[in-house]
Amino acid sequence: MEFSTKAGTPEKLKSSCVVVGVYADGKLTPSGTSIDAASGGNLSKAIKRGDQRGVRGSSLLLTGLTGIQAERVLLVGLGKHGELGEKAYTEAVRAALRGVIATGAEDLLFTLAEVPVPGRSLLENVRTAVCLSRESVYRFDQLKSKKEDPIRLQKVIFPVDKSTSKETGQGVAEGVALANGVDLTKTLGNLPGNICTPSYLAETAKKLGRDWKMKVEVLERKQMQALKMGSFLAVSQGSDEPPKLIVLHYQGAAAKQAPIALVGKGITFDTGGISLKPGEAMDEMKFDMCGAASVLGTLRAIAELKLKINVVGVIPTCENMPSGGAIKPGDIVTSMSGQTIEILNTDAEGRLILCDALTYAGRFKPAAVIDIATLTGACVVALGHINSGLFSPDDALADELLAAGQRALDPAWRLPVEEEYQDLLKSNFADMANIGGRAGGAITAACFLARFTKSYRWAHLDIAGTAWKSGAAKGGSGRPVPLLTEFLKSRVQ
Ligand code: BES
Ligand code: MN
Ligand code: ZN
Repeated sequence: MEFSTKAGTPEKLKSSCVVVGVYADGKLTPSGTSIDAASGGNLSKAIKRGDQRGVRGSSLLLTGLTGIQAERVLLVGLGKHGELGEKAYTEAVRAALRGVIATGAEDLLFTLAEVPVPGRSLLENVRTAVCLSRESVYRFDQLKSKKEDPIRLQKVIFPVDKSTSKETGQGVAEGVALANGVDLTKTLGNLPGNICTPSYLAETAKKLGRDWKMKVEVLERKQMQALKMGSFLAVSQGSDEPPKLIVLHYQGAAAKQAPIALVGKGITFDTGGISLKPGEAMDEMKFDMCGAASVLGTLRAIAELKLKINVVGVIPTCENMPSGGAIKPGDIVTSMSGQTIEILNTDAEGRLILCDALTYAGRFKPAAVIDIATLTGACVVALGHINSGLFSPDDALADELLAAGQRALDPAWRLPVEEEYQDLLKSNFADMANIGGRAGGAITAACFLARFTKSYRWAHLDIAGTAWKSGAAKGGSGRPVPLLTEFLKSRVQ
């Protein structure tokens, strides 16, 4: 899909469809007013007839209008003036895209970015429109032998004048870069476990490195043994797929500037191991590498944006499988940090691979470390599928991430990581257990990680509820790439 800006007024620009908005009180957006005037009042007539009442998310297609250069006009409802926030705006944009894609239109003149949304800039409106456009044409059909009919819509054009041209152009550029990152993350998530293996993730990282001039290292089992990553290696020992520790270096600023480290859980399939998961919906555990995928997607996005910042991506990746060689409940392993762990449940494997990756991340003397993981079912119980769980002992860092989530329309909600919960991880036989019981399961998982992150500023994102959708719309969501990209952007200024 192509995006562009074009100088001119909406009634004079050629397109197969122009989208304008109408509020619940019947008032048209500025572009709507111009189109209405040029076409002899046909829009206001439709509104007077009651065919378009401005209801949020509704749309009315008008064809055959004269006096304008667009073949079709799509009148999209914006709801009440005073209620037009970011939610109503995204609903309107989605309705616009749905309406246009249902027609044969190949290009769309999109004027809705002009509507004022409190607290949002024109740039953000444009960026949102670009991302939602890309979302509405995203398909994962590479493994289907019969493809659905292709979507006709190829192009989205933003009309601009002297005063809006630069900001709109920037919004397009940011939106495209972000959508490219999000799409990569979605696709890696959607690929099945027999294709998207640890080796596949490593190859993907290497390709990303070649395409975007990032240094990429892939550490093999031998090197991890030398580093004494006993916890990570224990998880991988039940699988025939070799584990990989992928390290990517994006350098957008002076080498001496401390990097942000992004550490992503890359379990390419989580069976639970010997603590085997029940069969229902186990296929969805192919998404257990979405933290890793979000690190790759974010690096893709910031590389395209040429952000002046240094970022290190660290991805521990392996499978969690039951086998004769697999870890057993009660096994005790020694992590790279030297701390010993009693593995009471082999299905709590994410923290076991992350703890060694977090220790490893320390060697980059990071300004901050953010780990991203589909870590606990308990987080889904706590927050559902709207907010990612955010955990950090660092109030300032937590606030930055929460704010980035809000700006990026990719929200997170903070949960505690307090000392008081640490008691739940007590083990009779090792320094700690890898589970803390059912109560507060997302919190005790974060508390486990906290024991390995004492030497730097750290936050943890539990994306178990937000990284993918289940049911009819099953598929990767690309989250939290928007949050992370916005966070890194805010760190540049
Ligand atoms: N990958 C899962 C977490 C998960 C489960 C994410 C369901 C999304 C949906 C993780 O490895 C896991 O199995 N966690 C266990 C931890 C428990 C054994 C303490 C869980 O949440 O049940
Ligand atoms: Mn598990
Ligand atoms: Zn898992």
